[in-house]
Amino acid sequence: MQFSTKTTALSNTPTSCLILGVYLNGNMPEETAAVDKASGKAISKLLKAGDISGKAMQAVLMQNVAGIKAKRVLLLGCGKKSDFSLKKFTEILRLSVMQLNRYSLEDAVLGLATLPMDKASMERKANQVAKVFTHAEYRYKETVSKAKPAQIIKRLAVACSTSERSQTKKGLDAGAAVGIGMNTARNLGNLPANICTPTYLGDHALALAKKNKLLKTKVLSEAQMKRLGMHSLLSVGHGSDQPSVLIVMEYKGSSANTKPNVIVGKGITFDTGGISLKPGSAMDEMKYDMCGAASVMGTMHALCELKPKINVVAIIASAENMPSGRATKPGDVVTSMSGQTIEVLNTDAEGRLVLCDALTYAKRFNPKTVVDIATLTGACVATFGNVVTGLLSNDDELADKLYQCGMDSLDPAWRLPLWDEYQKLIDSNFADIANIGGPRAGTITAGCFLARFTKEYKWAHLDIAGTAWNSGQQKGATGRPVPLLMEYLLNA
Ligand code: BES
Ligand code: MN
Ligand code: ZN
Repeated sequence: MQFSTKTTALSNTPTSCLILGVYLNGNMPEETAAVDKASGKAISKLLKAGDISGKAMQAVLMQNVAGIKAKRVLLLGCGKKSDFSLKKFTEILRLSVMQLNRYSLEDAVLGLATLPMDKASMERKANQVAKVFTHAEYRYKETVSKAKPAQIIKRLAVACSTSERSQTKKGLDAGAAVGIGMNTARNLGNLPANICTPTYLGDHALALAKKNKLLKTKVLSEAQMKRLGMHSLLSVGHGSDQPSVLIVMEYKGSSANTKPNVIVGKGITFDTGGISLKPGSAMDEMKYDMCGAASVMGTMHALCELKPKINVVAIIASAENMPSGRATKPGDVVTSMSGQTIEVLNTDAEGRLVLCDALTYAKRFNPKTVVDIATLTGACVATFGNVVTGLLSNDDELADKLYQCGMDSLDPAWRLPLWDEYQKLIDSNFADIANIGGPRAGTITAGCFLARFTKEYKWAHLDIAGTAWNSGQQKGATGRPVPLLMEYLLNA
């Protein structure tokens, strides 16, 4: 989709559709009032007639408004003026997309982004616009004979003042990149596990690097991982006929001596639980157990679109967790790349087993920070539902930063304590660590496990088990936490 800025008077702007807002009780923002005036009070008349009151999510399409260059005016209810926020704005943007699609309109001018909403800057608002409209473009097509029709809107101009034009442009560019990255993450997440295997993810990363000069990718084979001593990661794929891989992507937008921020994704392309087999209901959703990896890939794609002057390394630990005669058994002990031995008490706690070796591998990049992203625990879904991502960290500054980036990008994460009191829950009688900590505090004990491999750098863990995909009728990957990761990397 194409985004641009418009600084001409709204009443004088030719377009298929001019999108305007009205607050509760017919209270008009300046932008709308100006158009109302130019049109000989066409909007006032509509309000007076009671066709629209300004209640949030109302929509009225006006045709051939006299004195206005636009062919149509789409008037949207924005709710109470004092409550209008970036979040409400986002809902109105989604409504705009629906309405524009409904009337099959290919281009529009948005006259809503200049409305005040809490303390959001014009750059932030424009970012949100491009993100929402790009996100809306996505349709899953890969394995359906007749895919749902695509979005019709192709060009959106965002009205802004001349002085805010460059800010607006900057926000639009970043938001579009984030939207593209989210759609990449969503598509990889939605692909079934018989297509999206570890090898497929590796090929996808190589293809992305081929198209982008700033990206360098390599895919480590099982033999190479064996030589590195990654027996914890390898133990997860033992039961599978699909070979495991470690994908390493280096985005180099800055000088070679700038330390990179590293992101690490859990890429379990299907999680049956292994010998500790999961119950059958909704097991299909375990194709989404690679959404950490998908968000990392999406973030790298977004960086390739935006080309910021930063260095980022992405590591994806990918395997398929299956039961078989070769599968790892409960009670087996494996040696991780760090040298620490692990008693695999439950083969369904496999995410931490692949991540720990990837986190040890991360050290070689001399990272500024390391953030891992994983659909790690059902306990996180129990705690946070699908609203907020779990955040655990060994560094307060990093945790605060990620929290703030989540709030700013409307892709929130909330911190849980990673205190020493929890560490004893994963002690083992037969190895240095056990891979489960019992039924309580599951998200924290999973974090404690990872923390034993990340002592040498500033690290945070994002548990996206609840936020990476939606279940039920609207089943599908969300593309989270690409907005949070991009916000962080661009400001780190
Ligand atoms: N991928 C799952 C976590 C998960 C479950 C995410 C449901 C989203 C929805 C992970 O590998 C897992 O199975 N975790 C276990 C850990 C337990 C055995 C300690 C869990 O959460 O039950
Ligand atoms: Mn599992
Ligand atoms: Zn899993």
